[in-house]
Amino acid sequence: MSASVVRYLTGITTTGTPHLGNYVGAIRPAVQASRRAGTENFYFLADYHALIKCDEPARIQRSTLEIAACWVAAGLDPEQVFFYRQSDIPEITELTWLLTCVTGKGVLNRAHAYKAQVDKNTAAGVDVDAEVTMGLFMYPVLMAADILMFKAHKVPVGRDQVQHLEMARDMAQSYNHLYGEHLVLPEAQVDESVALLPGLDGRKMSKSYDNVIGLFAPREQVRKQIFSIVTDSRAPGEPKETEGSALFQIYQAFATPEETQKLRQQYAAGIAWSDAKQMLFDRIDAEIAPMRARYEHLVNHPEELERILQAGAAKARQRATPLMRELREAVGLRNLATLAGGAKKEKAKAALPSFKQYRESDGLFYFKFVDAQGRLLLQSSGFASPKEAGQCIAGLKAAQALPPGLPAATADGVDAGQVVAALRELAESGN
Ligand code: TRP
Repeated sequence: MSASVVRYLTGITTTGTPHLGNYVGAIRPAVQASRRAGTENFYFLADYHALIKCDEPARIQRSTLEIAACWVAAGLDPEQVFFYRQSDIPEITELTWLLTCVTGKGVLNRAHAYKAQVDKNTAAGVDVDAEVTMGLFMYPVLMAADILMFKAHKVPVGRDQVQHLEMARDMAQSYNHLYGEHLVLPEAQVDESVALLPGLDGRKMSKSYDNVIGLFAPREQVRKQIFSIVTDSRAPGEPKETEGSALFQIYQAFATPEETQKLRQQYAAGIAWSDAKQMLFDRIDAEIAPMRARYEHLVNHPEELERILQAGAAKARQRATPLMRELREAVGLRNLATLAGGAKKEKAKAALPSFKQYRESDGLFYFKFVDAQGRLLLQSSGFASPKEAGQCIAGLKAAQALPPGLPAATADGVDAGQVVAALRELAESGN
């Protein structure tokens, strides 16, 4: 991994079924971005986040399947990116707790999603925290863990998520301040140019408006939905306005500039709405049909997707596990045996043979060589200066032998072999 690599990370909450608005606004640009050189790209299914909004197990599972299938069918290559499910990475919940402990409650009090519920409760005259789970309250901390776990530099998000990125930066900063530089501060990347697709009724395409066109809904259903796009009542032959036409805007999101220009001319020339709708359907179908086959295959072979996600989790954990180990160590969640090791080392140091220098009342300088137990091995005669005594010691250490004529004698009951063994022991210890 080169130092200049830029890491991008995107989380997709696993509620609902993707529609064309998700495809144009998020999936398609992300799949294109995943192929940039010099980047690492992380895409994950935020199923823990889904639990905050949804308590229906079957829906969570189904949505995870459909969303994973959509991304792969839309061209995301799990071999080229990190593609995984949040709940397969236990380090993310571990990190969530470490971050929780460096996050002020006051910071989370200001989070938009929580505050919106509090405001709603206040307006309704009920308890301020009615309907507020700690999951909703802690949402920004879990999201920060998602991001910081993989040292992401850039997080492409919508405007509504910018505050969460600021909180993630604050948490990383607090942690680093307390425990050292371990976490990378992420940045939000808000792309204003991404098309906001209008829905069937002309408002923003959104599940909450019930105006969506399914991304991989059966072909006939997509045709029906497209033919139900609201238009005005101008008859065939009457010129039509492109301005404010949902049909035109959706077409533009799929067509080349030349194709768009052509439709613009046909609008002016009075194309019938039904013909325009057929053009739109054909254009969308040309892009989606090849992907739909792959999507249907995956949804019908969930075990294949499961394998992809398991492989993705293993790859992601190769990053998460070492970082988590480092972060635990930094806060003091440590193996106690490392302390025992430290004490042993001290003891071992004390238990080495050693030279002791001293001055006698005769004014001369002497040294003794004692073994680990303090037993005298070697006794020097007197030197005129400490420097000469030191030189003799250095010579013994270097030679690891008793040179003839040494101004020192082995002590009673000690032979030269024992002295040499002790010199070697000292040399091996590096002292
Ligand atoms: N909160 C994001 C959303 O609702 C989903 C998400 C969860 C996410 N974790 C993330 C997005 C981390 C980016 C990074 O859209």
